[in-house]
Amino acid sequence: MGYRVVVAGATGNVGREMLNILAEREFPIDEITALASRKSLGTEVSFGDKTLKTKDLDTFDFEGWDIALFAIGSDATKIYAPRAAAAGCVVIDNSSLYRYDPEVPLVVPEVNPEAVEDYRNKMIIANPNCSTAQMVVALKPLHDRARIKRVVVSTYQSVSGAGKAGIDELWDQTKGLYVPGQEVAPSKFTKQIAFNVIPHIDVFMEDGTTKEEWKMVAETKKILDPKVRVTATCVRVPVFVGHSESINIEFEEFLDEDEARDILREAPGILVVDKREPGGYITPIESVGEYATYISRIRQDSTIENGINLWCVSDNLRKGAALNAVQIAETLGNRVLKKG
Ligand SMILES: NC(=O)c1ccc[n+]([C@@H]2O[C@H](COP(=O)([O-])OP(=O)(O)OC[C@H]3O[C@@H](n4cnc5c(N)ncnc54)[C@H](OP(=O)(O)O)[C@@H]3O)[C@@H](O)[C@H]2O)c1
Repeated sequence: MGYRVVVAGATGNVGREMLNILAEREFPIDEITALASRKSLGTEVSFGDKTLKTKDLDTFDFEGWDIALFAIGSDATKIYAPRAAAAGCVVIDNSSLYRYDPEVPLVVPEVNPEAVEDYRNKMIIANPNCSTAQMVVALKPLHDRARIKRVVVSTYQSVSGAGKAGIDELWDQTKGLYVPGQEVAPSKFTKQIAFNVIPHIDVFMEDGTTKEEWKMVAETKKILDPKVRVTATCVRVPVFVGHSESINIEFEEFLDEDEARDILREAPGILVVDKREPGGYITPIESVGEYATYISRIRQDSTIENGINLWCVSDNLRKGAALNAVQIAETLGNRVLKKG
Protein backbone atom coordinates (compact mmCIF):
# COMPACT_ATOMS: atom_id res chain seq x y z
CA MET A 1 0.00 0.00 0.00
CA GLY A 2 1.30 3.45 -0.90
CA TYR A 3 0.38 7.06 -0.22
CA ARG A 4 -2.22 9.44 -1.60
CA VAL A 5 -0.11 12.46 -2.55
CA VAL A 6 -1.01 16.01 -3.52
CA VAL A 7 1.34 18.37 -5.40
CA ALA A 8 0.18 22.00 -5.01
CA GLY A 9 1.82 24.47 -7.41
CA ALA A 10 2.19 21.74 -10.02
CA THR A 11 2.47 24.21 -12.93
CA GLY A 12 5.45 26.03 -11.33
CA ASN A 13 9.19 25.38 -11.53
CA VAL A 14 9.37 23.59 -8.19
CA GLY A 15 6.02 21.78 -8.57
CA ARG A 16 7.01 20.27 -11.93
CA GLU A 17 10.32 19.12 -10.46
CA MET A 18 8.51 17.57 -7.48
CA LEU A 19 6.39 15.50 -9.88
CA ASN A 20 9.51 14.45 -11.84
CA ILE A 21 11.39 13.46 -8.69
CA LEU A 22 8.48 11.56 -7.12
CA ALA A 23 8.33 9.50 -10.32
CA GLU A 24 12.13 9.11 -10.70
CA ARG A 25 12.58 7.92 -7.12
CA GLU A 26 9.49 5.68 -7.32
CA PHE A 27 7.94 7.17 -4.22
CA PRO A 28 5.23 4.67 -3.16
CA ILE A 29 2.11 6.36 -4.51
CA ASP A 30 -1.39 4.92 -4.74
CA GLU A 31 -2.92 8.10 -6.10
CA ILE A 32 -1.53 11.50 -7.04
CA THR A 33 -3.22 14.78 -7.86
CA ALA A 34 -1.77 18.01 -9.29
CA LEU A 35 -3.15 21.36 -8.10
CA ALA A 36 -2.61 24.96 -9.15
CA SER A 37 -4.65 28.14 -9.33
CA ARG A 38 -8.02 28.26 -11.09
CA LYS A 39 -6.46 29.93 -14.14
CA SER A 40 -4.43 26.76 -14.78
CA LEU A 41 -7.42 24.40 -14.51
CA GLY A 42 -6.88 21.47 -16.91
CA THR A 43 -3.23 22.36 -17.66
CA GLU A 44 -1.34 19.16 -18.40
CA VAL A 45 1.74 18.26 -16.34
CA SER A 46 3.94 15.16 -16.55
CA PHE A 47 4.26 12.53 -13.87
CA GLY A 48 6.64 9.86 -15.16
CA ASP A 49 5.07 8.53 -18.35
CA LYS A 50 1.63 9.76 -17.30
CA THR A 51 -0.03 13.12 -17.85
CA LEU A 52 -2.05 14.77 -15.08
CA LYS A 53 -4.57 17.56 -15.55
CA THR A 54 -4.26 20.19 -12.85
CA LYS A 55 -7.21 20.86 -10.57
CA ASP A 56 -8.15 24.01 -8.67
CA LEU A 57 -6.48 24.15 -5.25
CA ASP A 58 -9.20 26.46 -3.95
CA THR A 59 -11.96 23.86 -4.22
CA PHE A 60 -9.86 20.78 -3.41
CA ASP A 61 -10.86 18.60 -0.46
CA PHE A 62 -7.75 17.27 1.38
CA GLU A 63 -9.74 14.72 3.39
CA GLY A 64 -8.23 11.23 2.96
CA TRP A 65 -4.95 12.47 1.40
CA ASP A 66 -1.72 11.56 3.25
CA ILE A 67 0.94 14.05 2.12
CA ALA A 68 0.72 17.40 0.31
CA LEU A 69 3.86 18.89 -1.24
CA PHE A 70 3.32 22.65 -1.46
CA ALA A 71 5.19 25.06 -3.79
CA ILE A 72 2.79 27.97 -4.10
CA GLY A 73 4.40 30.90 -2.27
CA SER A 74 3.70 32.20 1.23
CA ASP A 75 0.45 34.09 0.56
CA ALA A 76 -1.38 31.09 -0.84
CA THR A 77 0.26 28.75 1.69
CA LYS A 78 -1.21 30.81 4.53
CA ILE A 79 -4.70 29.98 3.23
CA TYR A 80 -4.28 26.38 2.09
CA ALA A 81 -1.72 24.73 4.41
CA PRO A 82 -3.96 25.02 7.50
CA ARG A 83 -6.82 23.64 5.41
CA ALA A 84 -4.80 20.56 4.42
CA ALA A 85 -3.42 20.09 7.95
CA ALA A 86 -6.91 20.30 9.48
CA ALA A 87 -8.01 17.52 7.13
CA GLY A 88 -5.20 15.27 8.46
CA CYS A 89 -2.89 15.65 5.44
CA VAL A 90 0.80 16.36 6.28
CA VAL A 91 2.04 19.46 4.43
CA ILE A 92 5.66 19.68 3.26
CA ASP A 93 6.00 23.34 2.38
CA ASN A 94 8.54 25.08 0.16
CA SER A 95 7.58 28.65 1.11
CA SER A 96 9.24 30.57 3.93
CA LEU A 97 5.94 30.97 5.87
CA TYR A 98 6.53 28.32 8.55
CA ARG A 99 10.33 27.97 8.49
CA TYR A 100 10.95 30.08 11.61
CA ASP A 101 7.96 28.79 13.60
CA PRO A 102 9.53 26.94 16.57
CA GLU A 103 6.78 24.32 16.40
CA VAL A 104 7.40 23.51 12.74
CA PRO A 105 10.41 21.34 11.89
CA LEU A 106 12.76 22.66 9.20
CA VAL A 107 14.40 19.64 7.66
CA VAL A 108 17.31 18.67 5.42
CA PRO A 109 17.36 14.87 5.63
CA GLU A 110 21.17 14.60 5.39
CA VAL A 111 21.45 16.90 8.43
CA ASN A 112 18.49 16.62 10.84
CA PRO A 113 16.22 13.75 9.70
CA GLU A 114 15.00 13.15 13.26
CA ALA A 115 13.23 16.54 13.23
CA VAL A 116 10.49 15.21 10.89
CA GLU A 117 8.88 13.58 13.91
CA ASP A 118 7.84 17.04 15.13
CA TYR A 119 5.44 17.21 12.17
CA ARG A 120 2.80 16.24 14.71
CA ASN A 121 2.84 19.74 16.26
CA LYS A 122 1.09 21.37 13.30
CA MET A 123 0.98 18.66 10.60
CA ILE A 124 3.45 20.86 8.69
CA ILE A 125 7.14 20.39 7.82
CA ALA A 126 9.08 23.26 6.26
CA ASN A 127 11.62 22.97 3.46
CA PRO A 128 14.49 25.46 3.68
CA ASN A 129 15.58 28.21 1.36
CA CYS A 130 17.48 26.90 -1.67
CA SER A 131 20.82 28.50 -0.69
CA THR A 132 20.62 27.14 2.85
CA ALA A 133 19.79 23.56 1.82
CA GLN A 134 22.93 22.99 -0.23
CA MET A 135 25.15 24.83 2.24
CA VAL A 136 24.11 22.80 5.31
CA VAL A 137 24.63 19.54 3.39
CA ALA A 138 28.24 20.65 2.92
CA LEU A 139 28.71 22.01 6.45
CA LYS A 140 27.26 19.10 8.45
CA PRO A 141 30.05 16.50 8.01
CA LEU A 142 32.75 19.13 8.59
CA HIS A 143 30.94 20.44 11.69
CA ASP A 144 30.76 16.88 13.09
CA ARG A 145 34.55 16.57 12.75
CA ALA A 146 35.92 20.01 13.73
CA ARG A 147 33.02 22.16 15.12
CA ILE A 148 32.27 25.19 12.98
CA LYS A 149 32.56 28.59 14.67
CA ARG A 150 31.80 30.94 11.80
CA VAL A 151 30.80 30.82 8.13
CA VAL A 152 31.23 33.60 5.56
CA VAL A 153 29.23 32.81 2.44
CA SER A 154 28.69 34.65 -0.86
CA THR A 155 26.05 33.25 -3.18
CA TYR A 156 25.64 33.33 -6.95
CA GLN A 157 21.94 32.51 -7.30
CA SER A 158 20.19 31.61 -10.55
CA VAL A 159 17.03 33.37 -11.79
CA SER A 160 14.89 30.21 -11.42
CA GLY A 161 15.07 30.90 -7.67
CA ALA A 162 12.65 33.74 -8.45
CA GLY A 163 10.07 31.45 -10.11
CA LYS A 164 8.82 31.29 -13.68
CA ALA A 165 8.81 35.09 -13.93
CA GLY A 166 12.55 35.18 -13.16
CA ILE A 167 13.38 32.74 -15.94
CA ASP A 168 11.21 34.63 -18.43
CA GLU A 169 12.81 37.97 -17.57
CA LEU A 170 16.37 36.73 -18.16
CA TRP A 171 15.34 35.06 -21.44
CA ASP A 172 13.33 38.00 -22.80
CA GLN A 173 15.83 40.62 -21.67
CA THR A 174 18.75 38.75 -23.24
CA LYS A 175 16.90 38.37 -26.57
CA GLY A 176 15.70 41.99 -26.38
CA LEU A 177 19.26 43.29 -26.17
CA TYR A 178 19.87 41.99 -29.70
CA VAL A 179 16.67 43.33 -31.28
CA PRO A 180 16.33 47.14 -31.47
CA GLY A 181 13.00 48.27 -30.02
CA GLN A 182 12.42 45.03 -28.07
CA GLU A 183 14.39 45.91 -24.95
CA VAL A 184 12.77 44.53 -21.77
CA ALA A 185 12.78 46.76 -18.68
CA PRO A 186 13.45 45.18 -15.25
CA SER A 187 10.26 43.98 -13.58
CA LYS A 188 10.83 40.83 -11.48
CA PHE A 189 14.36 42.03 -10.67
CA THR A 190 15.35 45.53 -9.54
CA LYS A 191 17.93 46.08 -12.29
CA GLN A 192 18.81 44.51 -15.63
CA ILE A 193 19.70 40.86 -14.99
CA ALA A 194 20.92 39.99 -18.50
CA PHE A 195 24.75 40.26 -18.57
CA ASN A 196 24.68 41.71 -15.04
CA VAL A 197 24.69 40.68 -11.36
CA ILE A 198 22.44 42.10 -8.62
CA PRO A 199 23.50 42.09 -4.93
CA HIS A 200 19.93 42.10 -3.66
CA ILE A 201 17.48 39.18 -3.14
CA ASP A 202 14.21 39.61 -1.24
CA VAL A 203 13.54 42.75 0.84
CA PHE A 204 15.99 44.89 2.84
CA MET A 205 16.09 44.47 6.63
CA GLU A 206 16.67 47.33 9.08
CA ASP A 207 20.37 46.47 9.56
CA GLY A 208 21.15 46.64 5.84
CA THR A 209 21.15 42.89 5.20
CA THR A 210 18.57 41.41 2.87
CA LYS A 211 15.90 38.91 3.90
CA GLU A 212 17.59 36.22 1.77
CA GLU A 213 20.80 36.75 3.75
CA TRP A 214 18.88 36.71 7.04
CA LYS A 215 17.20 33.44 5.98
CA MET A 216 20.58 31.75 5.47
CA VAL A 217 21.63 32.76 8.98
CA ALA A 218 18.38 31.82 10.76
CA GLU A 219 17.86 28.56 8.85
CA THR A 220 21.44 27.31 9.29
CA LYS A 221 21.09 27.84 13.04
CA LYS A 222 17.75 26.01 13.15
CA ILE A 223 18.86 23.05 11.01
CA LEU A 224 22.53 22.62 11.93
CA ASP A 225 23.43 24.29 15.22
CA PRO A 226 22.30 27.55 16.89
CA LYS A 227 25.91 28.21 17.93
CA VAL A 228 27.23 28.48 14.35
CA ARG A 229 27.65 32.13 13.31
CA VAL A 230 26.89 32.90 9.66
CA THR A 231 27.29 36.05 7.59
CA ALA A 232 26.01 36.02 4.01
CA THR A 233 25.96 38.14 0.85
CA CYS A 234 23.34 36.92 -1.62
CA VAL A 235 23.68 37.84 -5.28
CA ARG A 236 21.42 37.12 -8.27
CA VAL A 237 23.34 36.14 -11.41
CA PRO A 238 22.25 35.59 -15.04
CA VAL A 239 22.18 31.79 -14.80
CA PHE A 240 18.91 29.92 -15.45
CA VAL A 241 19.29 27.03 -12.99
CA GLY A 242 21.92 26.15 -10.36
CA HIS A 243 23.06 28.11 -7.33
CA SER A 244 26.76 28.50 -6.49
CA GLU A 245 28.32 29.51 -3.20
CA SER A 246 31.78 30.53 -2.09
CA ILE A 247 32.01 29.36 1.53
CA ASN A 248 34.70 30.29 4.05
CA ILE A 249 34.56 28.21 7.24
CA GLU A 250 36.33 28.84 10.54
CA PHE A 251 36.55 25.81 12.85
CA GLU A 252 37.29 25.35 16.54
CA GLU A 253 39.83 22.62 15.69
CA PHE A 254 42.36 22.45 12.89
CA LEU A 255 41.09 20.59 9.80
CA ASP A 256 43.51 19.77 7.04
CA GLU A 257 42.25 20.34 3.47
CA ASP A 258 42.95 16.71 2.49
CA GLU A 259 40.99 15.41 5.46
CA ALA A 260 38.15 17.84 4.65
CA ARG A 261 38.12 16.48 1.09
CA ASP A 262 38.00 12.87 2.35
CA ILE A 263 35.19 13.66 4.79
CA LEU A 264 33.14 15.37 2.08
CA ARG A 265 33.75 12.45 -0.35
CA GLU A 266 32.12 10.09 2.16
CA ALA A 267 29.23 12.39 3.12
CA PRO A 268 25.64 11.75 1.99
CA GLY A 269 24.30 13.92 -0.84
CA ILE A 270 27.75 15.24 -1.82
CA LEU A 271 29.94 14.69 -4.85
CA VAL A 272 33.46 16.10 -4.66
CA VAL A 273 34.94 17.26 -7.98
CA ASP A 274 38.18 18.95 -7.05
CA LYS A 275 41.06 18.73 -9.51
CA ARG A 276 43.46 21.62 -9.38
CA GLU A 277 43.52 22.10 -13.14
CA PRO A 278 41.46 24.04 -15.72
CA GLY A 279 37.89 22.71 -15.61
CA GLY A 280 38.53 20.54 -12.56
CA TYR A 281 35.52 21.96 -10.68
CA ILE A 282 31.75 22.09 -11.13
CA THR A 283 29.81 25.05 -12.54
CA PRO A 284 26.04 25.55 -12.14
CA ILE A 285 25.13 24.39 -15.64
CA GLU A 286 26.63 20.97 -14.85
CA SER A 287 24.45 20.60 -11.75
CA VAL A 288 21.15 20.98 -13.64
CA GLY A 289 18.87 17.95 -13.28
CA GLU A 290 21.21 16.31 -10.77
CA TYR A 291 20.62 15.35 -7.14
CA ALA A 292 24.09 16.04 -5.77
CA THR A 293 25.51 19.00 -3.95
CA TYR A 294 28.89 19.41 -5.68
CA ILE A 295 31.96 20.57 -3.78
CA SER A 296 35.06 21.90 -5.53
CA ARG A 297 38.04 24.18 -4.79
CA ILE A 298 38.61 22.81 -1.25
CA ARG A 299 41.62 24.61 0.19
CA GLN A 300 43.12 25.84 3.42
CA ASP A 301 42.46 29.47 4.37
CA SER A 302 45.88 30.43 5.67
CA THR A 303 44.70 33.87 6.91
CA ILE A 304 43.06 32.30 9.97
CA GLU A 305 44.12 29.53 12.34
CA ASN A 306 41.52 26.89 11.44
CA GLY A 307 40.03 27.83 8.10
CA ILE A 308 38.83 26.11 4.93
CA ASN A 309 37.48 27.63 1.70
CA LEU A 310 35.26 25.74 -0.71
CA TRP A 311 32.95 26.13 -3.71
CA CYS A 312 29.48 24.56 -3.49
CA VAL A 313 27.06 24.12 -6.42
CA SER A 314 23.63 22.50 -6.66
CA ASP A 315 20.45 22.53 -8.75
CA ASN A 316 18.31 24.98 -6.76
CA LEU A 317 15.07 23.48 -8.09
CA ARG A 318 16.18 20.02 -6.93
CA LYS A 319 18.25 19.95 -3.70
CA GLY A 320 17.21 23.55 -3.11
CA ALA A 321 13.52 22.72 -3.27
CA ALA A 322 11.85 19.71 -4.95
CA LEU A 323 14.38 16.97 -4.15
CA ASN A 324 14.65 18.03 -0.52
CA ALA A 325 10.84 18.06 -0.24
CA VAL A 326 10.59 14.53 -1.66
CA GLN A 327 13.43 13.36 0.63
CA ILE A 328 11.44 14.77 3.57
CA ALA A 329 8.41 12.77 2.40
CA GLU A 330 10.59 9.65 2.17
CA THR A 331 12.01 10.26 5.66
CA LEU A 332 8.52 10.81 7.06
CA GLY A 333 7.36 7.62 5.35
CA ASN A 334 10.28 5.51 6.61
CA ARG A 335 10.34 6.85 10.16
CA VAL A 336 6.71 7.53 10.93
CA LEU A 337 3.93 6.77 8.47
CA LYS A 338 5.41 3.43 7.32
CA LYS A 339 3.20 2.69 4.34
CA GLY A 340 4.47 1.38 1.02
N1 LIG B 1 12.64 28.19 -7.19
C1 LIG B 1 13.42 27.88 -6.16
O1 LIG B 1 14.66 27.70 -6.27
C2 LIG B 1 12.81 27.68 -4.83
C3 LIG B 1 13.59 27.13 -3.82
C4 LIG B 1 13.05 26.96 -2.56
C5 LIG B 1 11.75 27.35 -2.35
N2 LIG B 1 10.99 27.88 -3.36
C6 LIG B 1 9.61 28.27 -3.05
O2 LIG B 1 8.71 27.40 -3.74
C7 LIG B 1 7.50 28.12 -4.04
C8 LIG B 1 7.19 28.01 -5.53
O3 LIG B 1 8.30 28.52 -6.27
P1 LIG B 1 8.40 28.34 -7.86
O4 LIG B 1 9.78 28.76 -8.19
O5 LIG B 1 7.92 27.00 -8.30
O6 LIG B 1 7.33 29.44 -8.36
P2 LIG B 1 6.57 29.52 -9.76
O7 LIG B 1 7.35 28.84 -10.83
O8 LIG B 1 6.22 30.95 -9.95
O9 LIG B 1 5.22 28.67 -9.54
C9 LIG B 1 4.25 29.04 -8.59
C10 LIG B 1 3.17 27.96 -8.50
O10 LIG B 1 2.26 28.29 -7.45
C11 LIG B 1 0.93 28.30 -7.97
N3 LIG B 1 0.15 29.30 -7.24
C12 LIG B 1 0.52 30.56 -6.95
N4 LIG B 1 -0.48 31.19 -6.28
C13 LIG B 1 -1.49 30.30 -6.16
C14 LIG B 1 -2.79 30.33 -5.59
N5 LIG B 1 -3.27 31.42 -4.99
N6 LIG B 1 -3.55 29.23 -5.66
C15 LIG B 1 -3.09 28.11 -6.26
N7 LIG B 1 -1.87 28.00 -6.83
C16 LIG B 1 -1.08 29.09 -6.77
C17 LIG B 1 1.10 28.62 -9.43
O11 LIG B 1 -0.04 28.21 -10.13
P3 LIG B 1 -0.49 28.96 -11.53
O12 LIG B 1 0.48 28.51 -12.58
O13 LIG B 1 -1.86 28.46 -11.71
O14 LIG B 1 -0.38 30.44 -11.24
C18 LIG B 1 2.34 27.80 -9.76
O15 LIG B 1 1.97 26.44 -9.94
C19 LIG B 1 7.74 29.53 -3.52
O16 LIG B 1 7.23 29.61 -2.20
C20 LIG B 1 9.24 29.65 -3.48
O17 LIG B 1 9.68 30.60 -2.56
C21 LIG B 1 11.49 28.05 -4.58
